[in-house]
Amino acid sequence: MATLDEIRSAAAKRIAEAGGLDVLNDIRVNILGKKGELTQLMKNLKDMAPEDRPKFGQLVNSAREEIERQLQEARDRIAKKARELQLEAEVIDVTLPAKKAQIGHRHPNSLALDEIERVFVGMGYEVVEGPEVEYDMYNFEKLNIPANHPAKDEQDTFYINKEILLRTQTSSVQARVMEKGKLPIRIIAPGRVFRSDEVDATHSPSFNQIEGLVVDKNITFADLKGTLAEIAKQLFGEDTKVKFRPHHFPFTEPSAEVDVSCFKCGGKGCRFCKGSGWIEILGCGMVHPHVLEMCGIDPEEYTGFAFGLGLERISLLKYEIDDMRLLYENDIRFIKQF
Ligand code: DAH
Repeated sequence: MATLDEIRSAAAKRIAEAGGLDVLNDIRVNILGKKGELTQLMKNLKDMAPEDRPKFGQLVNSAREEIERQLQEARDRIAKKARELQLEAEVIDVTLPAKKAQIGHRHPNSLALDEIERVFVGMGYEVVEGPEVEYDMYNFEKLNIPANHPAKDEQDTFYINKEILLRTQTSSVQARVMEKGKLPIRIIAPGRVFRSDEVDATHSPSFNQIEGLVVDKNITFADLKGTLAEIAKQLFGEDTKVKFRPHHFPFTEPSAEVDVSCFKCGGKGCRFCKGSGWIEILGCGMVHPHVLEMCGIDPEEYTGFAFGLGLERISLLKYEIDDMRLLYENDIRFIKQF
């Protein structure tokens, strides 16, 4: 009985002093565990007079319960204390400014393309797309660029195999649309094109073009001129003039390159237009009769015009960006400015 009292009071003292859950666990093992002091004491039972055993057993059990209760109270106390310390340490300052979510921004190319599409759709054009991985047939053959044609070397092509390549021009979509045979045609076809070019301020192995194609009865060069003059005004301002310079493309005849008057200096000549007053923006022409024929359209009945422009070129001009590489780096600090 004296030992039991000793165990109880020693336990109460140790529990009261315990500062952590690990200490409490040690105390529990030492006293209540299989080899613990109280468990050992219980083993004395067999040496006692039979009439004393129930009483002693009861006393040990109630001591065990009491110690368990004290342990639990101590655990609660320690947990509460830990929580208080935590709350004290983690003060939330509700006056701090909120973290702003990083929201993306439309790319200058997307902005320019949106505007170009809006203008053409307003003139009754449909926006269509073609595949980036394309047959040589659509990219070259049906556009009057047969094998061994010098124009084929001008556009350094990424070939996938002998017949399949990464398209070098969105003109490939022209052949696909005409071949479908649904006339009249009035489409633009924006998309990515690929050429084996070195990267510099004005070149990239992958860039974007916008193709235009109109095929109907009685389409003339005057329609082409009127259309492009109107587009130039809408994109670069009411006072913009256009100039057609004779050129050669295999799939158009006659062909032209088109310059717009410099919207920066109004044509007087500045750093922007390299002193000439004019900025080249696209290639165009009347669809070559042979191309119409190869795509199943009767050139005696139908005529058409086509044009192709570089989207990056328009973005760089419109937003006065002087290095094409900026358009591909996607630095949000740059993109946010437009
Ligand atoms: N495909 C030509 C190029 O990539 C651009 C072009 C010129 C497209 C004249 C046309 C066109 O549709 O008529 O350089």
